[in-house]
Amino acid sequence: MRYSDDIIEEVRNRNDIVDVVSEYVRLQRKGSSYFGLCPFHNEKSPSFSVTPSKQMFYCFGCGVGGNVYTFLMEYENATFPEAVEKLAARAGIELPKQEYSKEARQEADLRSALLAVNKEAAKFYYIQLRTDKGRQAGDYLRNRQISEETMKRFGLGYSDRYGSGLYKYLKSKHYSDELLKQSGLFNVDERRGMSDKFWNRVIYPIMDINSRVIGFGGRVMGDGKPKYLNSPETKIFDKSRNLYGLHIARSSRKKNLIICEGYMDVIAMHQAGFTNAVASLGTALTSQQCSLMKRFTNEALVIYDSDGAGVKAALRAIPLLRAAGLSAKVVDLSPHKDPDEFIKAEGARAFEERLERGINGFLYEIDKLQADYDMGDPQGKTDFFHEAARRLCRLEDEIERNTYLEAIAERYGIEAGILRKLVNRLALQGAGVEPKPRPVTTGARPAAAKLSGGADMAQRLMLTWLASYPSIYEGIKQYITLEDFTDPMYHRMAELLFEQYDRGEPNPAGILSRFEDLEEQKKAAAVLHAGIRLDSDEERQQALKDVIFRMKSDSLKKRMARGDPSDPESFMALMREKKELEEFRVQTGELHISIN
Ligand code: UTP
Ligand code: MN
Repeated sequence: MRYSDDIIEEVRNRNDIVDVVSEYVRLQRKGSSYFGLCPFHNEKSPSFSVTPSKQMFYCFGCGVGGNVYTFLMEYENATFPEAVEKLAARAGIELPKQEYSKEARQEADLRSALLAVNKEAAKFYYIQLRTDKGRQAGDYLRNRQISEETMKRFGLGYSDRYGSGLYKYLKSKHYSDELLKQSGLFNVDERRGMSDKFWNRVIYPIMDINSRVIGFGGRVMGDGKPKYLNSPETKIFDKSRNLYGLHIARSSRKKNLIICEGYMDVIAMHQAGFTNAVASLGTALTSQQCSLMKRFTNEALVIYDSDGAGVKAALRAIPLLRAAGLSAKVVDLSPHKDPDEFIKAEGARAFEERLERGINGFLYEIDKLQADYDMGDPQGKTDFFHEAARRLCRLEDEIERNTYLEAIAERYGIEAGILRKLVNRLALQGAGVEPKPRPVTTGARPAAAKLSGGADMAQRLMLTWLASYPSIYEGIKQYITLEDFTDPMYHRMAELLFEQYDRGEPNPAGILSRFEDLEEQKKAAAVLHAGIRLDSDEERQQALKDVIFRMKSDSLKKRMARGDPSDPESFMALMREKKELEEFRVQTGELHISIN
């Protein structure tokens, strides 16, 4: 849902950035700013600053910065609307509800009723585990070396052996049978009525990324079958779009996410400090789950069971992860079966070492491929290299292809040159994707690229100036127009700033919220927050004039390069501008823009 700019500003104004950041980072006042240890990179001395007057934060160490929304988006890995909602709730602001159709309204009501039922159920199971009836379940978990704290963090529970405890409990809370039927938590029998689906099992509540209970997994204590029983899919439980443990892993602040198979694996890893572990929900990994992961990280470590099924599952997962834009690495745990058992047997440090030895997804695929060929037989070996070459052909990036080619050559003992010839020959025959032709370099190209780099720089500086000294706006606007901001992102920023300044309400931090993409927000924040570190008024005057001149002449050059030299009129116009620019340079001697 898209909130109006007014609401977004209102919410931002009511959440002082120093207060919000202080909830996560210990800040100390130094002059007009606050400083603390940056939560976004490892550091020993504080270079993370929060400036109340600008309502912005900035880290001089890692360059991350922004307004209060950016902070939450970064820290909690939240989307922009999620950040707005969270801060609105914090300030007690009620966000406007969208006009729903009757059906949509009913649907939304049903969903929230189901969420309420699940929450109650989780509470019920949680308490059961901590009563006498739950003693055996508690022992089972303790036996598996799960600490009380971990049980609490994952909200583990127990469903007793009497078969209708949850049903009675929820009826006492006045939930209708109709609703309870849709919750998936009960077996419905025409004659005998409703009974609990889970009985005598350890209960693992399944949370969505916002920590709302959407379903359950239940494990037998011992060797019964089925080992796990899971909630069926319901209006609120879509197994292909959620991941177990992600509500915690999303803010683990590690560089990747670990994807594994089991609830117990996630729990064991979190307990050992690997709080970035998640699992699929008793089904194979889906592309939607990969996209979900991509919201929080660029790299996935695949840790599936070391049996045949696990290898197969990993080979299925790698291309899905890759398609979602994640780089995948596969971690081998043999001789142990799964992360839980590995950690139990060898400890967290050894586990960490295994993670570091994760093998790149592509090489993992080739490795497993090799197992299908008889490498002792010349024909088998030849066939293997042909297939490996075919797969190399499919890698579009030339550097990537070459890196893997060399890795494979070394790993399986073939001369890189021979493998390369094979790859090229196959490429010519049209196997896989043909190697991309090199871009044709025309004489004009590099010059144009260079020109645009320089132009961006001046535009960027100009924005920094405007944000730091709103008073210069009146002085510069006779020279600089929006047209001179040729970079689309800077153009947009300038547009927003100019609008504010024309209204006489300078508020640079406010424009950040207009960029919903986190990368854009960060880029914009870096521009606005960069300081102009010049001591004397004279230096500042000179620097500002340079920026104006650079921007003007860059924009002019750009337009001249674009202009059609055979069109005399446009040519004349450009020449006129060029002359004006020369004059401007002469004038600047007397130009004085008030900076304060
Ligand atoms: P595993 O059999 O590897 O379970 O199944 P696990 O997590 O290691 O469990 P423990 O250590 O024996 O307690 C992996 C996942 O497959 C799903 C569950 O999501 C489980 O976590 N599964 C497994 C089921 O849904 N049903 C089953 O009967 C078995
Ligand atoms: Mn296990």
